[in-house]
Amino acid sequence: MVSLRFILCCLLVGSSYATIVSHDGRAITIDGHRRVLLSGSIHYPRSTPEMWPDLIKKSKEGGLDAIETYVFWNAHEPTRRQYDFSGKLDLIRFLKTIKDEGLYGVLRIGPYACAEWNYGGFPVWLHNIPEMVFRTTNKAFMDEMQNFTTMIVDMVKKEKLFASQGGPIILAQIENEYGNVMGPYGEAGKTYIKWCANMAQALNVGVPWIMCQQNDAPQPMLNTCNGFYCDNFKPNNPNTPKMWTENWTGWFKQWGGKNPHRTTEDVAYSVAKFFQRGGTFNNYYMYHGGTNFDRTAGGPYITTSYDYDAPLDEYGNLNQPKYGHLKKLHDVLHSMEKTLTYGNISTIDFGKSASATIYTTGEGSSCFFGNGNENSDAKISFQGKSYVVPAWSVTILPDCKTEAYNTAKITTQTSMMVKKPNKAEDDPSTLKWSWRPENMDDFLLKGKGESTKTQLVDQKVVSNDQSDYLWYMTTVKFRKRDLVLGKNMTLRINSTAHVLHAFVNGKHIGNQHAENEKFHYVFEKDAKFKSGRNVISLLSITVGLQNYGSFFESVPTGITGPISIIGRNSDETIVKDLSAHKWSYKTGLNGFENQLFRTESPSKWSAESVPLNRSMTWYKATFKAPFGNDPVVVDLLGLGKGTAWVNGNNIGRYWPAFISSGDGCSVKCNYRGAYHAEKCLTGCGEPTQRWYHVPRSFLNAGDNTLVLFEEMGGNPSLVNFQTTRVGSVCANVYEKNVIELSCDRKPISAIKFASFGNPDGNCGSFEKGTCEEINNAVDILTQECVGKEKCSIDVSTEKFGAPDCGGAARRLAVEAIC
Ligand code: GAL
Repeated sequence: MVSLRFILCCLLVGSSYATIVSHDGRAITIDGHRRVLLSGSIHYPRSTPEMWPDLIKKSKEGGLDAIETYVFWNAHEPTRRQYDFSGKLDLIRFLKTIKDEGLYGVLRIGPYACAEWNYGGFPVWLHNIPEMVFRTTNKAFMDEMQNFTTMIVDMVKKEKLFASQGGPIILAQIENEYGNVMGPYGEAGKTYIKWCANMAQALNVGVPWIMCQQNDAPQPMLNTCNGFYCDNFKPNNPNTPKMWTENWTGWFKQWGGKNPHRTTEDVAYSVAKFFQRGGTFNNYYMYHGGTNFDRTAGGPYITTSYDYDAPLDEYGNLNQPKYGHLKKLHDVLHSMEKTLTYGNISTIDFGKSASATIYTTGEGSSCFFGNGNENSDAKISFQGKSYVVPAWSVTILPDCKTEAYNTAKITTQTSMMVKKPNKAEDDPSTLKWSWRPENMDDFLLKGKGESTKTQLVDQKVVSNDQSDYLWYMTTVKFRKRDLVLGKNMTLRINSTAHVLHAFVNGKHIGNQHAENEKFHYVFEKDAKFKSGRNVISLLSITVGLQNYGSFFESVPTGITGPISIIGRNSDETIVKDLSAHKWSYKTGLNGFENQLFRTESPSKWSAESVPLNRSMTWYKATFKAPFGNDPVVVDLLGLGKGTAWVNGNNIGRYWPAFISSGDGCSVKCNYRGAYHAEKCLTGCGEPTQRWYHVPRSFLNAGDNTLVLFEEMGGNPSLVNFQTTRVGSVCANVYEKNVIELSCDRKPISAIKFASFGNPDGNCGSFEKGTCEEINNAVDILTQECVGKEKCSIDVSTEKFGAPDCGGAARRLAVEAIC
């Protein structure tokens, strides 16, 4: 019998990659060596192929061993059996880029992804197959899931990309966090997960399969953990190494929501604690979040930016200090790989959540000192020496003597990003606009669509998710003396449309959007009806389909009704229910069908009297690409809601008019204590998203075209292109450390602040403290740093003098302008 303790996965000679990937309860073993693996999620369609090499290179420099991605079924198979692997969807090119950089890959095929991706990555046509229920023992579903999974595996095998073939992929994933939602599926769910395991195993990929958050994962599937902390996680099988597939580096943002921030100290703390407690594989979700281009944002209400407060920001810039502080942690952990994966483990509990873990091999020992107390520092005595471990932190001592790293002591610089005007334009604030109205006559006046039904139908079923837009239209005839007719009439719609626009006889009577989390609401507005024929035209707009939950595929979208006309006269209220009327349906808008967003679109645009605050309006302008290589954004402040294109590339939905509520933000953010998604928010009372990423590869040297489709009404006159880069860098570091300052490949231009002693405040608002340096820190730093792209400074009394700070440790605070 083959021992489960060793699942040998592959054989290949002559490659720089693994020949054998296995696991033995302690760690993933590659080529016979147990590994400490650090990995990061980058989802290929959330950036462009031109960005991939740089993102992956930066990941490697950040100390990662592997890149993880989901595979997005709905993107690859938008229509049943018609596949798309072009451009941003070129999965194989992405995997080869990982390989070229010498990193490993983790392929989460799912094919359910979640990921705040539209419909969790499921194609909507799948839902529309008769008798379909997702993610359970349902033949139609299992057939399609198997078909897609097999196809992806075959493609990857053909390119020899599994480690078993000498390629980079060391792990594959089937399903995704099914354990979190499986209760309501009952026995059928349990059978389904066994089927998933067998189906995956039979594909013979030659590397282990993982199933995250699945504590009944059938052997040989590896059950792994997702969350903000996974140090307490125990896989369901003692032979499964302790693996963390999603360490959330921040959180996602929703329209109307605020900017989430997870502190660097807390991310580092969670990782160090995980390795202290026997972890062996940690994947950051996300390492680069990127952008939800086009209609890929899930939801409902996930924003176009998927920045996630990840170590690499939306545009691919280093998010400092997160990136650098984690890099240092990775280096320390890698240096201890042998003791961590082969050593005997012993622990000492000091009480009050303080503990030491010692890993020992014949060659030496490595130690972690952990302090889980949120309020007080811990004083630890260990082998005759005493150590202070700050509250909510872990200290790592690779030789059990010298502190090499503490999760709460950041020595990496903080980078403050700035946006700069587009210097390629003479007067960037005044783009020349032309416009045209969306042609809606057929729908508003005739109520004429493509199909009819005598009921209200879910938007997904009618439009197969070919568009955000679906018209629901009906006609109502009234006799002259119809009792409902009168002065006081309203149209009432029970709606699950994310956004709804209502028209009666061609007149816009109002629009409404759902409050976040309240996608079931009643729209009621005054409306004028006449005797004879009336046309009611309702435009339902989706803003990302549900991506999470048991049976989420059936969450209603569009107008589910009932819909009624209500007439009120002096003594009665008459309700006329229209739900079973003949409804006419039309998916999409004319301007989309006629591709008005295409640069070469022949349609007529007018430069005369460009309207402001006009709903259902197309705008177009040309602009010059900003000089240089810094990432480009377009500032859409002033606009309402819609879609934007640059040179025909859909850069995503925009909605700067959606202002987040004014409460719940914190000026100060305490890293101590468990993180949750409502902690440390910023951006209260501000547009949810004002800037939109325009990847450099969408731009060309000559004239570029920006097209906007504005649904709600807005003012494009402020729209302008900008670049984003590091504006200033700061550090605030104790003596006996080294600070490295860097303006990311641009010279440092000035030192704005420097003080050695006990300076106060934060980056941008530092102030001198009560003990002052003798030597002038600004002069010293100016000499060592200004004009250079990088400088390294010893924070020492030799250099800066020894101010008397009453025995307290001295710090150097510095702010440099880039
Ligand atoms: C997890 C899921 C991920 C992502 C994450 C939140 O539950 O597996 O795909 O949705 O939550 O960002």
